[in-house]
Amino acid sequence: MHRRKFLQYAAASGLGVGLGGYYYKHAANAQQAEPTKTTTSLPDTPLFIPGNSGLMGVMDVSDAPIALSARSSALPIMQGKPSPFLLYETQYGGKSYQNPIIRIKRGGQFKASLQNALNQPTIIHWHGLHVPGVMDGHPRSSIAPGARYDYAFGVTNRGGTYWYHTHAHPLTAEQAYSGLAGFFIVEDEAETALRNALGLEPGVTELPLLIQDKQFNAAGALVYGGNRMQQMMGQLGDTILVNLTPRPILNIQKRLYRFRILNGSNSRIYKLAFVRGNKTLPYTIIGTDAGLLDRPYNAQEVFLAPAERLDIVFDASNLPVGDEIVMKSLAFDAMENMMGGMGGMGGMGGMMGGMGGSALALGAEFPIMKLKVAGQAPGKTAQLPRQLSTITRIDTRRATARQIKLSMGRMRWLINDKTFNMNEYPIQSRSNTVELWDFQNAQMSMPHPMHIHGFSFQVVSRQNSPSQVRKLAQDASGRLITDLGWKDTVLVWPGETVRIAIDLTNSYKGDQIYVMHCHNLEHEDQGMMVNHKVTAA
Ligand code: C2O
Ligand code: CU
Ligand code: CU
Repeated sequence: MHRRKFLQYAAASGLGVGLGGYYYKHAANAQQAEPTKTTTSLPDTPLFIPGNSGLMGVMDVSDAPIALSARSSALPIMQGKPSPFLLYETQYGGKSYQNPIIRIKRGGQFKASLQNALNQPTIIHWHGLHVPGVMDGHPRSSIAPGARYDYAFGVTNRGGTYWYHTHAHPLTAEQAYSGLAGFFIVEDEAETALRNALGLEPGVTELPLLIQDKQFNAAGALVYGGNRMQQMMGQLGDTILVNLTPRPILNIQKRLYRFRILNGSNSRIYKLAFVRGNKTLPYTIIGTDAGLLDRPYNAQEVFLAPAERLDIVFDASNLPVGDEIVMKSLAFDAMENMMGGMGGMGGMGGMMGGMGGSALALGAEFPIMKLKVAGQAPGKTAQLPRQLSTITRIDTRRATARQIKLSMGRMRWLINDKTFNMNEYPIQSRSNTVELWDFQNAQMSMPHPMHIHGFSFQVVSRQNSPSQVRKLAQDASGRLITDLGWKDTVLVWPGETVRIAIDLTNSYKGDQIYVMHCHNLEHEDQGMMVNHKVTAA
């Protein structure tokens, strides 16, 4: 089995084609993951910083439509050894891009087409964007190999860090893991004001950071777990990548940096901290999923679940030249409390390691990226503005209440006791109303990052939070710093009830069909997803 698989990988990586075939074979084998090469044997690698073309290149789009093609390709991730990857490719303004960082002004018209050059269905979902149902990339919009889907919508979102990724059911997890994802950045006046106040230079002192965990085999090829435990709990990799760089290191100057972080992992939750020696350093949170917070908030550690974005400022102006800071994920209790008494750290986490899951358990501590203070900044140090944006609280006085129960039955994750059915509409709400949803996670469960398509929401309260979460609460309602901005994904811990407010105001014609789901992508693919129909007023 090892030999045969090795030959498949070698063929796939050498040619950079035929990945779809490899996937089907791989899925059919569905055996234990290959033993992986641990990241610790790799040298530090300069963080990959996207330019204005090529991989993750920043692509300013205006009126001209973009033609994206989803295809199998190869990327040299592990010490130059090519690995099969799936990428979105396009030519725009005379340049070519793979997984471009799409950048557009608020109020602009976005026009794109997706050509499916894979040998399985796919579709693009614009995560966090407010678009009509047919433009959303709902799994029912998936297109067959060779087919094309056209998108056109106005960008009405606040400035912020959004993203796009595949959403073909039930292939989202493996396709996204294999590379089908990118940033979608919306610009507005609040963004421009911040950039001017801090003298930020995109690509130099303002950097997008895509954090992912993946697993590679000894030949340097990407491996998708596929064993029963990883399918049920979620894929975890033992190689942490930032902008597809393993063991990244970034040389910084003594000044402020803005990091626009996207947790693009299938299932891993991070507890982000900056550590110098054994001391955590303070940093500033300036934005969440859907743009800037009202003001800067100081933090030392923040949970970041799959699909969540975190916009932070790290101040290196008082650090000595030569210093090394490590951006880490700190240890936490993964709370995979599924099997009664086995809960907590070392329970399922330990079991997963033993059962061919990741060598790096959920909740383990590990480095994400090194920052090396390499020199003085030219010019004076900037001050963060007192106000960043205006966040108007949603008026919930006439809101409709809804309970969303998260549980497990017959070894499947469920939403209100149901598994996903493309043709059922268990959640129906009315356009131009406000709803309050209570996400209630069962005690015997695991953390679920819950995501809503089509509309941003606000977190109203957290109840019955576990102590590691409660101790980070900012107010009497139990909210965390990351709950204080506009959101589209919220992490719900075992035992917790998280109440959110959604304003369903829109100007679309007719009924709109979206999904709401867990953004642990293995959970989603197993059916932890539900249709949400917003009926016309
Ligand atoms: Cu990132 Cu259905 O979403
Ligand atoms: Cu989404
Ligand atoms: Cu989940």
